[in-house]
Amino acid sequence: MKVLYASSEALPFAASGGLADVAGSLPQALRNRKVACRVVMPLYGSISDEMRASMKFITSIMVPVSWRRQYCGIFEAKAGGVVYYLIDNEYYFKRNGFYGHYDDGERFAFFSRAVLEILPYIDFKPDIIHCNDWQTALVPVYYSTLYANREGYTGIKTVFTIHNIQYQGKYGRDILGDVFGLGEEHASLLHFGDCVNLMKGAIECANKVTTVSNTYAVEILDPWFSHGLDPILKDRSYKLSGILNGIDVKNYDPETDKDIPYNYNAKDFSNKAKNKAALQEIFGLPVRDEVPVMGIVSRLVSHKGLDLIKRIMWELLNLTDMQLVVLGSGDWEYESFFKELAAAFPEKVGLRLGFIPDMARKIYAGSDLFLMPSKSEPCGLSQMVALRYGSIPIVRETGGLKDTITDSGDGKGNGFTFKTYDAYDMLDAIGRALAAYADREGWQKLVERALKCDNSWGKSAKEYIKLYESVL
Ligand code: GLC
Repeated sequence: MKVLYASSEALPFAASGGLADVAGSLPQALRNRKVACRVVMPLYGSISDEMRASMKFITSIMVPVSWRRQYCGIFEAKAGGVVYYLIDNEYYFKRNGFYGHYDDGERFAFFSRAVLEILPYIDFKPDIIHCNDWQTALVPVYYSTLYANREGYTGIKTVFTIHNIQYQGKYGRDILGDVFGLGEEHASLLHFGDCVNLMKGAIECANKVTTVSNTYAVEILDPWFSHGLDPILKDRSYKLSGILNGIDVKNYDPETDKDIPYNYNAKDFSNKAKNKAALQEIFGLPVRDEVPVMGIVSRLVSHKGLDLIKRIMWELLNLTDMQLVVLGSGDWEYESFFKELAAAFPEKVGLRLGFIPDMARKIYAGSDLFLMPSKSEPCGLSQMVALRYGSIPIVRETGGLKDTITDSGDGKGNGFTFKTYDAYDMLDAIGRALAAYADREGWQKLVERALKCDNSWGKSAKEYIKLYESVL
C-alpha cells in the first residue's frame, strides 16, 4: 500500500503546531509497518540552507491556478527514513510565517493542485492521498472533480483528517472560479452559508474523514464544538471516525534528550530533581526542591482555556507556595496577563514569550505539574509529552485530553481532570494535585505511572492501516 501524506507543515522541515509533529512521525510509524508512506509539503522560505543542501531537485512543472499557470519546483529529501517532496514556489512560500497572508486561499489552492499535478513526475503512485486540515482540503475536491477520470489518476482514494475544526478556510464566493478554477457545477460541494468553505468541501469529497481522537469525533457533531460544521458532519457521519495521535517517543525521550540538562528514565528518575533546579535557575526563581513547579506550554489563545487561568491564577498564587513557569505566544490579552503576573510574583512566576522547542522540553523535564485546561482539544500532544517526561497533567475532560488522561483519585490514573469549563472546577483539580504532591511517596508512584504510559504511534498506526484498507 502506498500513501502520500499531504500537509502544510511537517517536522523536521517546518513546524508551527501539532500538525507538524503528526506529519513528522505518523509516516515513519506507517513505514515501520510496511506501508510505503511519503510526505508532500511546501518548501517555505524559512527552511534552512543546511536542510536545502540535502534536497535533490527532481524537476519543475507549471501548475494551473484557475486561468494562471504557476511555477512549481519539485524537490526530494529524506528524513527519519521517510521521503519528503517539497513544493517550491517563492512567490507563494518565501514569506514571513506559514499562514495569515491575504491570499492564503490561493497559496494553498496552488499547493493542493500541485500535490496532484506532481504525481506523473515522481516515482510514487499513491493508492491513498491523506490530507490534513483546510490547507490541503482542496486535494479531495480537485481529485473528485477534475482528476478521478484522468489517465494515470484513476482509483486513488482520499482521506481527510481534521486536526482542528476551528480553522476551516472560509472565503467569499467569488474565489471559486477566479482562484480555485472550479465551475458553478461544483459550487454545491464547497458552498456553505455565505462562503466557500474548504473543510466542508473535503468532508463532502474525501472517502474517509478522520479526526485526532475518539472523543473529538463525537464532540464535533455538537454545535458547541463544530464551528458550524455539525450538520455536514452528521450527514456524513458514516465516513467519520477518530484515531488518537501518538507521539514520536524517540524524539521525546528523557533518557536521550539533548535539550534537557540531566537525562533519566522510568526506572531511575532521580535526575528529574536536578532538571527542576536547573529550570528554576533558568527562569530566575528560587531554587527549592520542595516547592511544586507547574508548567504551561501553550499557544496563548482562548481555546486553550486561558480564560480559566486568568480567572483564578492571581488568587492561587497569593494563597499557595508554588511556582509557575509559562512558555508560549499568542493573543495580546493573554501575553499581557502573564507579563503582569510575572511582574507581580517575581519569586513565583517565570515567563518566556515565544515558540521555543528546546525550552519546552526543559519545562516538561523540570516541572512537577503540567496545566492544560483547554476549552476544546482535538487531541493535544503536550499532555502526552508531559507524561513522557513525568510532569503530571491537569486537564479538562475534552477531546484527546479526555482520551489520554485519567484522574488519579483512585490511585491508578495518570493525572488530574475536571469536567465543566469552569475556573473553580479547575481550581479544585489543581487543589487535589497540590495535595497529592504533598504526599511525597504517593507522588513518586504517580510520576512513575506517568513515565510508564505508552503513547507511541503503534496502536494508532494500525488503526490508520485498517482505515486505508477499508477504502481500497
Ligand atoms: C491541532 C490540535 C491539537 C492536535 C494537533 C495534532 O493543533 O489543536 O489538539 O493535537 O492538531 O493533531
